Amino acid sequence: MIAANVEDYRLLAKRRLPKFLFEYIDGGSFSETTLRNNCADLQTIGLRQRVLRDISTINTETELFGQNLKLPIILGPVGIAGLNARRGEVLAAQAAQEKGVPFCLSTVSACSIEEVRLQTQDPLWFQLYMIKDRGFLNAMLDRAVEVGTKTLMFTVDMPVPSSRYRDIRSGLSGGSMFRRQSARMLQSMMSPRWAWDVGICGRPHSLGNVAHVLGKGAGIDEFWSWMSKNFDASVTWKTLEQIRDKWKGDLIIKGILDPEDALEAKKLGADGLIVSNHGGRQLDGALSSIRALPPIADAVQGDIKILLDSGIRTGLDIVRAMALGADAVVIGRAWVYGLAAQKKQGVSNVLDILGNELRVAMALSGCASLKEITPDILVK
Ligand code: FNR
Repeated sequence: MIAANVEDYRLLAKRRLPKFLFEYIDGGSFSETTLRNNCADLQTIGLRQRVLRDISTINTETELFGQNLKLPIILGPVGIAGLNARRGEVLAAQAAQEKGVPFCLSTVSACSIEEVRLQTQDPLWFQLYMIKDRGFLNAMLDRAVEVGTKTLMFTVDMPVPSSRYRDIRSGLSGGSMFRRQSARMLQSMMSPRWAWDVGICGRPHSLGNVAHVLGKGAGIDEFWSWMSKNFDASVTWKTLEQIRDKWKGDLIIKGILDPEDALEAKKLGADGLIVSNHGGRQLDGALSSIRALPPIADAVQGDIKILLDSGIRTGLDIVRAMALGADAVVIGRAWVYGLAAQKKQGVSNVLDILGNELRVAMALSGCASLKEITPDILVK
């Protein structure tokens, strides 16, 4: 199949990946209502068709946190994304750089921040959770500074991990260690192309930034157990002040769905926030990001940058999000599907698809530049 859109990349990824990995990427929490609503609510937003407005040149460039972006897209942090292809995060960061957009590395990546940085020219963006082990957290901030990171996403919507039924059923997280390991082994054998690329040729299989705390020979089970012990459920806005004080670069609070929390982020002195429900992976029943966006945009009044993620699958979605007040969008699954399906080329292709769709959507709604994407282009 030749992939025409992100959904096609999803199907290609499904064919190539072992079941436990595909379900991990694709799934959400509980009954996945928010996961579905993220995409469905975007599709209910109509765009006005405008004609005869000279759209011969379409400019999709923007400036964000002092960086010029060729497209208003950031590749968002996705844990262990690097397992979807050999040294996967390195490949994705390289593809992002070639397309002129930022790549944000997850705390819990498969490749370390130093490895990814070494293989790219541009500084990375980095994402951090509030980790109970404050020694690890502070050391991680220092490592990020050392490799030249200027933009930090601080994720606040995961004080505890949610219930993800697909991960339990697939053997990623449920049942006994024996059951999990045998299920994963069997599924890997049924995905020989992935097993060869990642399982055999993708060594070392140590877990990126956390490898040194997990110890030698640690695998996915030890990683999961470290993660679940280290989520800090006691975090408050007060705790975040310490991060604000320590981090001199741009700070973006990721995981805001409520206008009151958006105002807290602004009060903290954050440079930006991400309207996000973690791609429908945390509180099921929470608002879709696109529905949460307008009151948040009203509340912060343009004082800090607003990004949106959760559900972005097409260039049309990018226009919809920007029309409702986002300065740019963050993509999660979209780039990972590309990586899983066709490695670096897949990520590049996904960015090309989104870029082309964005240009078409802008042209047909009469916008020659991103600044012209305002609420006025929406069907009321
Ligand atoms: C995520 N997300 C995420 N967020 C974060 O801050 N740190 C992380 O390590 C991860 N890990 C992660 C793994 C997987 C498999 C997914 C799908 C997502 C959330 C991610 O950054 C982003 O908010 C969502 O993916 C956006 O939704 P879409 O674009 O996937 O619909």
